[in-house]
Amino acid sequence: MADADTLVLPEGAASDWTIPQNWNAYTPEEHAVWDTLFERQAKLLPGRVAPEFLEGLDILRLSKPGIPDFEELSDRLMKATGWQVVAVPGLVPDAVFFDHLAERRFVAGSFIRKPDQLDYLQEPDVFHDVFGHVPLLANPVFADYMQAYGIGGQRAGGRGAIDLLARLYWYTVEFGLIQSAEGLRLYGAGIVSSRSESIFALDDPSPNRIRFDLKRIMRTQYKIDDFQQTYFVIDSFDDLLDRTLNTDFAPLYDELIGAEEIAPDAVLPDDRVIHRGTQAYSRSR
Ligand code: PHE
Ligand code: CO
Repeated sequence: MADADTLVLPEGAASDWTIPQNWNAYTPEEHAVWDTLFERQAKLLPGRVAPEFLEGLDILRLSKPGIPDFEELSDRLMKATGWQVVAVPGLVPDAVFFDHLAERRFVAGSFIRKPDQLDYLQEPDVFHDVFGHVPLLANPVFADYMQAYGIGGQRAGGRGAIDLLARLYWYTVEFGLIQSAEGLRLYGAGIVSSRSESIFALDDPSPNRIRFDLKRIMRTQYKIDDFQQTYFVIDSFDDLLDRTLNTDFAPLYDELIGAEEIAPDAVLPDDRVIHRGTQAYSRSR
């Protein structure tokens, strides 16, 4: 998501900001980057990621190897949960992003990182967007959550409310953890698409791991350029959907816009703490 004022519709993009993915233009080297990252994460994630994510991963195994062709991927996803994947040139305005989600369309970047950026890049590429986000879109409950989020964004209106809503996206869709029957598991796309954060978020003593609390999350600032200092843990996707869909956010926005913000590393007296982080990692930076 990004501030609408700072973005202009790129040449060649449709009025909804989509562009053709142009799958035939990818080079063998670009497909190889996808395959390398895919194999690495597919090997690392069992036992770390939510079972629902692993169940959805097969949706990415298409008829051609390499970067998924969005048309074939969308056909499959459409049959599973009614979602599609559409290509966009990069960041899109908030309203465009919300409208696509509300229509069950996930917007994905089509470019892929260079072979020397396997471990870190700041802007979301096709590996982050597709490997990170699409498997859970094949899960009916998570699929509904993402659509509800888009509709929530359409209703939010105004920068203050959207900033609060963006924190919910950040701490769930991008960096969420879940308490599964087998133990703590990853599900956020920003974690599962990163090898180092897939280890850090689950195993490192540095970050806080705190139970999901909607209002608390909406007040919590986040870091965009390093591992998170706090992860929030949901009980289940049903519970996440239930707590968000059945809460009217309007009074929360009224209460929280202008309220005191919470630092990314803070632990509060009312927090339901699963692990109090040492913050040793962030202090060493
Ligand atoms: N219930 C929220 C509202 O009243 C919408 C929403 C649902 C937001 C699910 C996020 C996730 O605006
Ligand atoms: Co993302």
